[in-house]
Amino acid sequence: TPYIVVLAGGIGSKFWPFSRNNFPKQFLDLLGTGRTLLQMTYDRFVKLSAADRFYVVTSHAYAHIVKEQLPELSEDQILREPLRRNTATCVAYASYVIQKKDPEARVIVTPSDHLILHEVAFQDTMRLALNEAEKDNQLITIGIKPNRPDTAYGYIQYIDSNDEVKKVKTFTEKPDVDLAKTFLESGDFVWNSGMFAWKNKSIIRAFGKYMPEVAEVFEEGESYYSTPQEEEFIRRAYSLVKNVTIDIGIMEKSENVFLILGDFGWSDLGSWMSIHQLKDRDGNNNVVDANAMLYDTTNSYIKVSPKKLVVVHGLDNYLINESENVLLICKLDAEKKFKEFVADAKNKG
Ligand code: GDD
Ligand code: MG
Repeated sequence: TPYIVVLAGGIGSKFWPFSRNNFPKQFLDLLGTGRTLLQMTYDRFVKLSAADRFYVVTSHAYAHIVKEQLPELSEDQILREPLRRNTATCVAYASYVIQKKDPEARVIVTPSDHLILHEVAFQDTMRLALNEAEKDNQLITIGIKPNRPDTAYGYIQYIDSNDEVKKVKTFTEKPDVDLAKTFLESGDFVWNSGMFAWKNKSIIRAFGKYMPEVAEVFEEGESYYSTPQEEEFIRRAYSLVKNVTIDIGIMEKSENVFLILGDFGWSDLGSWMSIHQLKDRDGNNNVVDANAMLYDTTNSYIKVSPKKLVVVHGLDNYLINESENVLLICKLDAEKKFKEFVADAKNKG
């Protein structure tokens, strides 16, 4: 039975004001299904694993939300981080905890904030990934066929073959737009889905090789993991390591990375625009999640508490999003502005 490491410590600024620093995207029912993205991630993986095999890595500040949303997990399955040190650090922490518990473990690492539409195809892909991960010290990535030169993703170039598992040639995290266009045109690049499969031993070995300073710090925790001293040890460990993503720290550098193509209706739900495209729309391509009257309004997304009647006239490509104490009105494709909105709003109190 594989272990599932769920990364759930991101802050999700692109869904502000719906998503807040103290309540980011993964903890929201972004699609209105009755389950949050974290819960949907759990539901999807529990079918391949078991409740007691999960580890959710998150911030101390969010641990209570994880507990509430996933009552199936025990206290020691929630790995609490004192600081945000990015995904390489989270993966290292979880890997060393698992190493102590079960040195022969097979592991899937997954983000907590994505959408997957076709569950059966997804599970087949993940089973194949786990099987392949048994071989040598392979690190398996799941790639998605790209349809635009998106600069928010990592790109994986692979050597094409008839095998279901392809050798990875290069891994490039978040290229600039010109490079992304070149990648798209060349045809042998896919997006990194952010999901990985490996033997725990293989990733521990990769940390030793490519991030030895991180390996050294977490190796020292062996006698503390899953004991009352864990928290104190982790505080110290996190103060010693740098902020690095797994993509840059390990995947870009490693030679034995392999790829499985995933075709299961994946979206990383990276923007309001991407949610707009997934939701039911009216005849004018509007998503209306509100008690609203629309006139001459097209391609817009209106999400306002039903307590208020919203009247809209003459808008095209707009987002209207009301949360508790913020009303945001902006272009639906303004994702590049969100960092600025969030930063400036902080100063307004
Ligand atoms: N616990 C914890 N701590 N989790 C974190 C942290 C952290 O410091 N930072 C990020 N995460 C979590 C996020 O909540 C998310 O579930 C996952 O790790 C990935 O982080 P993102 O911040 O969403 O990364 P990204 O979307 O910019 O890029 C990654 O995902 C893309 C696909 O969506 C990369 O792996 C790209 O290569 C990839 O294409
Ligand atoms: Mg992401």
